[in-house]
Amino acid sequence: MSDNSTQPNGAIRLKGVTKNYHLGKRVVPALKGIDLEIIDPGFYAIMGPSGSGKSTLLHLLAALDRPDAGSIELDGVRIDTLNETQLTQFRRHQIGIVFQQYNLISTMSALDNVTLPALLDGMPRKQRYEKGMKLLESLGLTDRADHRPDALSGGEQQRIAIGRAILFEPSILFADEPTGNLDSETSEQVWKLLHDLANQQDMTVIMVTHEPVAAMHCEKAFILRDGRILRTIDIHDGIDIGELATRLLQPDG
Ligand SMILES: Nc1ncnc2c1ncn2[C@@H]1O[C@H](COP(=O)(O)OP(=O)(O)O)[C@@H](O)[C@H]1O
Ligand SMILES: [Mg+2]
Repeated sequence: MSDNSTQPNGAIRLKGVTKNYHLGKRVVPALKGIDLEIIDPGFYAIMGPSGSGKSTLLHLLAALDRPDAGSIELDGVRIDTLNETQLTQFRRHQIGIVFQQYNLISTMSALDNVTLPALLDGMPRKQRYEKGMKLLESLGLTDRADHRPDALSGGEQQRIAIGRAILFEPSILFADEPTGNLDSETSEQVWKLLHDLANQQDMTVIMVTHEPVAAMHCEKAFILRDGRILRTIDIHDGIDIGELATRLLQPDG
């Protein structure tokens, strides 16, 4: 039941998105015309070999950088046309982003890290901490509230980083190789958390990954090659991991 209102709904639409980097006089074409449409909330993967443009695409989607051409619409908002002030607000409230390196602040407790966006937003301390403690509880991390990042495991740090990203209950969450530094058991917990956010909280979760085992938790994988979307693989088509890995390696078509 979609309409054209700007009600947050997790929808993503890209048309003709291109991005070049400039290295001195050399132009590096990172994205060569991306068309992509995601209508329903869910857990989606962006996959492809190193250098295929995955991180560039995620940065554009998360409004951390702007495209050279094309349009990017999130929740019905054309983010490529927002000014910096509007973008800051949009980034803080409507989307979340997590990175491979967690990017937590080492001198701050887990509670202060998870509530940082509320601090930046000017929320009073009491309200901020109540909100943060509720979130930590939902992540099973209540007893870690006072710990600094170096006293937490990698998996706990990434869950704190995910908590920080979803503090304002965004409709869209982006994750760039979120389990790149984690062992397989801990990775499973992170994938399950992302899957649950998508399925129980109606978020659109987009994860960059090069691991087929990670994509098995998703419903669709968009395969990038040389700055273009080569194909889309429907993971729920009864596909098994061997077949997924094989299809990832097919050169084209
Ligand atoms: N800041 C940058 N300056 C110049 N070239 C870049 C920059 N970032 C990425 N690139 C180039 O753009 C292409 C896509 O990179 P990237 O999006 O990081 O790919 P992936 O995440 O799939 O490994 C690569 O050719 C890469 O070398
Ligand atoms: Mg990358």
